[in-house]
Amino acid sequence: MSYSKEESNSFFSKDAFGPDFQWGVSNAAFQVEGAWNEDGKGVSIWDDFTHKKGKIFEGHHAEIACDFYNRFASDLELMASLHIPNFRFSIGWSRILPQGIGKINSKGLDYYDRLVDEALKRDITPWVTLYHWDLPQALQDKGGWTNRDIIHWFEEYTQIVVKKLGDRVKNWMVLNEPMVFTGGGYFLGVHAPGKKGLPGFIPAVHHATLCQGIGGRVVREICPGANIGTTFSCSYIEPFRDSEKDHKAARKIDALLNRLFLEPALGRGYPFQELKMLNRLERYMMPGDDELMKFDFDYIGLQNYTREKVRFSFSTPLLWANIVKAEKRNVPVNQMGWEVYPESIYHMLKQFSSYPEVKKILITESGTAFEDNLTDGTVHDPERTDYLKKALEQVLKAKTEGVPVEGYFIWTFTDNFEWAEGYSPRFGIVHNDHFTQKRTVKSSGKWYAEFLKS
Ligand code: FCB
Repeated sequence: MSYSKEESNSFFSKDAFGPDFQWGVSNAAFQVEGAWNEDGKGVSIWDDFTHKKGKIFEGHHAEIACDFYNRFASDLELMASLHIPNFRFSIGWSRILPQGIGKINSKGLDYYDRLVDEALKRDITPWVTLYHWDLPQALQDKGGWTNRDIIHWFEEYTQIVVKKLGDRVKNWMVLNEPMVFTGGGYFLGVHAPGKKGLPGFIPAVHHATLCQGIGGRVVREICPGANIGTTFSCSYIEPFRDSEKDHKAARKIDALLNRLFLEPALGRGYPFQELKMLNRLERYMMPGDDELMKFDFDYIGLQNYTREKVRFSFSTPLLWANIVKAEKRNVPVNQMGWEVYPESIYHMLKQFSSYPEVKKILITESGTAFEDNLTDGTVHDPERTDYLKKALEQVLKAKTEGVPVEGYFIWTFTDNFEWAEGYSPRFGIVHNDHFTQKRTVKSSGKWYAEFLKS
């Protein structure tokens, strides 16, 4: 345990990262806003999915979530009191366009307008994610990410948002973790919209890749001086055993989890060579798509939580590779069952920065979930602080070795709705009582505040 470490001053100061390094916290609309049907908001695929039986841990839903829609001003006040200078949040597409396209809901747009203003008023810089998984259900009814028309729907939506906020918001992220929303939502069926199998996954991948590039271009056109990125989930991949078969399996999973969406954006196309199953993508590729997929991002958003060990497997035809769950490897795990392995972030920084096209990297999500206890009005979470410090140590190590990493955003500010896991995992540096909505800064939050103040 690291109780004494948390309190000690031996940890490096933030100055070690340089004056231009961006420090912040991240969240996402669906996970915190609640107000699921207030002020003209349309239904999103996550509203729909959470209302289906058996999809979410213990039937939790996000109708109220952290009630951020109504409480954002006091949350921003709390953020400012912790000296947090940057805040990453996302826009709920169906709040602005209840049907996904067409008629604009001005109340939804006004809400984000106020959110931006209230942040700026407190010297908190907004970083906006355009798509963090909550597709309007009306568009899902037309096929969602499997329908190529999404490139036009997404373009329309992006134009509206950037025209409204682009005078004040300069930092943008196009997509949040396309691998997770296409893989979880269209292949495994564990996330909204709950579809399973390759037939939907393959076109969803291609259309998300196109939107990645198209979104970047729309922001560039409308918002001069914008700092444009997009975010990728990633995990350091290692072979389970040191055998040729496991090495090969690891390379495949690496291509799937860490390269599939990044490389086309960099102009390198899909990693067809390692993943023969991707040949199915060719059916969906139209002339000119290679160019559309490409975009000169100002930065890459790297999101890392763990590492994976991979072995050869007969049970997964096409891939012939399996992830060996952390629980089976006798390693420390967090509330998600993910291995606690902060070194992963260093390896991924090295891997992403090895592409000459990558100019800059920001860690747009990093954090962990442990069980927290609210006792006498305090939450003491030294394990989380310890994880964050160790992750930061790894970031600094990479930076010292020349990796152009320029920011670190903790996932997340308040405990919130963790998708299929409901409210059970707690990732926040601020505890939320999900019944009373009372916020309590955890000791990790206090540590971050001290660190940022120094
Ligand atoms: C990431 C998601 C984020 C949150 C964290 C724990 O994959 O982008 O919304 O759920 O994991």
